[in-house]
Amino acid sequence: MTTTILVTGGAGFIGSNFIHYLAAHHPEWRVINLDKLTYAGNLENLHGVDERPNYRFVHGDIADRETVAPLMAECDYVVNFAAETHVDRSIHDAGDFIRTDVYGTFVLLEAIRDASRPRRFVQISTDEVYGEIESGSAKETDAIAPRNPYSASKAGADRLAYSYFVTYGVPVIVTRASNNYGPRQFPEKVIPLFVTNALENKPLPLYGDGLQVRDWLHVDDHCRGIDLLLHEGVLGETYNIGGGHELPNLELTRQVLRILGKPESLVAHVADRPGHDRRYSLDTAKLRGLGWSPKVPFDEGLRATVAWYRENPGWWQRIKSGSAEYRRFHERHYGPRS
Ligand code: NAD
Ligand code: TYD
Repeated sequence: MTTTILVTGGAGFIGSNFIHYLAAHHPEWRVINLDKLTYAGNLENLHGVDERPNYRFVHGDIADRETVAPLMAECDYVVNFAAETHVDRSIHDAGDFIRTDVYGTFVLLEAIRDASRPRRFVQISTDEVYGEIESGSAKETDAIAPRNPYSASKAGADRLAYSYFVTYGVPVIVTRASNNYGPRQFPEKVIPLFVTNALENKPLPLYGDGLQVRDWLHVDDHCRGIDLLLHEGVLGETYNIGGGHELPNLELTRQVLRILGKPESLVAHVADRPGHDRRYSLDTAKLRGLGWSPKVPFDEGLRATVAWYRENPGWWQRIKSGSAEYRRFHERHYGPRS
């Protein structure tokens, strides 16, 4: 029988890249994309895969039982990308994060429990659940210590999913990925924001001293890791997925400017994010043990990503100047900083 996979949040950055990945690597699979189309969801992201006969879009909320239950009854795999994802937004207002990231995941888990059809539920968690890592790298067995409303809500979902494995035998796998980059990332996250600001000769608002470290993972490497875990991950286990390329934000910013041939004078040091995690770092030995390793060298991936934003100005201009919601958030968040 044909494999059917439910991808939630498939109109967002990673979810849409994953659906493109599935079309290339599992073209025979039926793909159902359940997405609420929040400010971050964009059906343009599915261009090229949305006309395939085995692709179906469902406009709906993961927190809505009536929407979710019938979908579970027809799928073999579920990958839950749907979430509120921007740390700064969670600092302004955490309500939607609790509702989608925690309660929405609960609704999905309950529906799987009732349907008992899906063979695997992959909960896409994040390296941010470990909190800031002063030295060394976080292992899956380390304690989690989230420090902002986004990472706390993701940690809630992460452990709730695990509890459904232990308590009810729901076939859960949890992944904790590091910062992703690549095409179609919403221009509120640092790389697309800085690339597109630089293209417009606008300042790049670097928080605090800019020496916070993130570990960068190309979205294609992330998709390959998830695919491997759909096939070979051990149920009930958690897997880190990290690019292994740690970089202070200031150095990342300089690289972006160098690629674009723009001056460093565009860097604007602005007020820091409250509770800003200083560093994230993942030990990925467990996933590497299954044969995975990141394939996209950072310099190459960053160049290609910058090129994508340069070549697709319509995509981000429609968001940055066309969306009243985007402009409202931008004003509320950056207005007082500048
Ligand atoms: P994104 O913000 O680009 O996309 C999120 C998508 O989820 C959007 O299409 C949105 O419409 C949808 N959505 C939001 N609430 C929903 C709801 N209630 N019901 C259905 N759909 C809903 O996010 P992203 O960067 O693609 O992240 C995807 C997942 O990966 C998230 O779970 C995030 O926590 C996790 N993650 C992201 C990163 C990263 O660097 N971006 C790193 C590690 C983990
Ligand atoms: P972001 O892309 O929001 O991802 P996360 O907070 O989930 O890691 O931010 C990445 C890093 O860039 C983080 O250390 C915060 C920093 N940053 C800035 O310096 N300025 C900005 O305008 C943004 C959005 C982020």
